[in-house]
Amino acid sequence: MILIVGASGRLGKAIARQALGAGKAVRASSREPEARLGDIKAAGAEVIAADLRDPASLQRACQGVQVVVASAHGAVDGWGNHSKLVDDKGHRDLVDAAKAAGVEHFIYISAMDAAPDHPASWIRFKAGVEDYLAKSGMAYTIIRPTAFMETHAHLLLGQALMEKGKVSVFGEGNSPRNFVSVEDVARYVMIALDDPRAKGDIIEVGGPDNPTTNEVAQMYAERIDGEVKIGSMPRAMLKVMSTLMKPFQPGMSQIMMYAYLEDIHGSAFDMGPTLAKYPLELTPIEQFVEQQFL
Ligand SMILES: NC(=O)c1ccc[n+]([C@@H]2O[C@H](COP(=O)([O-])OP(=O)(O)OC[C@H]3O[C@@H](n4cnc5c(N)ncnc54)[C@H](OP(=O)(O)O)[C@@H]3O)[C@@H](O)[C@H]2O)c1
Repeated sequence: MILIVGASGRLGKAIARQALGAGKAVRASSREPEARLGDIKAAGAEVIAADLRDPASLQRACQGVQVVVASAHGAVDGWGNHSKLVDDKGHRDLVDAAKAAGVEHFIYISAMDAAPDHPASWIRFKAGVEDYLAKSGMAYTIIRPTAFMETHAHLLLGQALMEKGKVSVFGEGNSPRNFVSVEDVARYVMIALDDPRAKGDIIEVGGPDNPTTNEVAQMYAERIDGEVKIGSMPRAMLKVMSTLMKPFQPGMSQIMMYAYLEDIHGSAFDMGPTLAKYPLELTPIEQFVEQQFL
């Protein structure tokens, strides 16, 4: 039995569907399984309520499970479900619950560039959980994806262009970035489930190309009939908003700060080394954008 924590999320749902499609037994968790996991239940999963802020619920969810896939986060949420509670303590509690229940393999969805000195706190928490998991004694796989196309190319960029004909790019938009499709990240989770070489491995997962934000916006714009307006939110504004939002909206504050840093440094990534070890045909960003218009 595979427990997927965060099964109602973009990536969690893709993992659940692919695992069920491969004939695996899946237990899917959410804080509100009846409201959010109906489709996954209909596809054959067992569903269960579990909250990363409630260790007892994690212990219940891990009973009878061989593999845990941790695909939840609170990085963009407000104080009630904030990152320190969910991404840091909640995930350490999940590692403890899995170990106590005799789980054989723990697959952790981390993030690219996870490091203890990263400027964004949710990425620092990811690095801390990676370390905690590696020292747990359980077999583990860490997956470090780049930015999801579904969130960072579509939700934050393309969707507004398609629906309103205008969008405001975070910053100057000229730094190369890497975007990966959620389906491709889920396919690497399937590899982690089946390939013994993935045990004890950190698998970095990105897309095949490194476009700038402006180039992605342009891919949407050229497929839209009529005029579109691509504006810009200046870097200085991102920094000010991150500071102003911090006391009220810690999650949004993090996003603004992350967008600021990414606009300066970019996030280009070379999938060559990962593909050499675990070959897979990846979704190009142009193809992903094309699919949004079908
Ligand atoms: N989005 C990206 O670009 C990106 C990039 C790199 C890494 N990642 C990582 O990939 C993973 C999946 O991200 P996503 O974008 O697919 O997530 P998402 O769509 O934003 O969904 C978030 C998930 O977290 C769950 N969750 C939130 N608070 C929880 C809590 N207190 N207890 C239990 N579950 C909780 C939600 O479940 P309920 O609300 O149903 O309880 C939901 O399933 C995360 O670890 C994220 O950090 C994402």
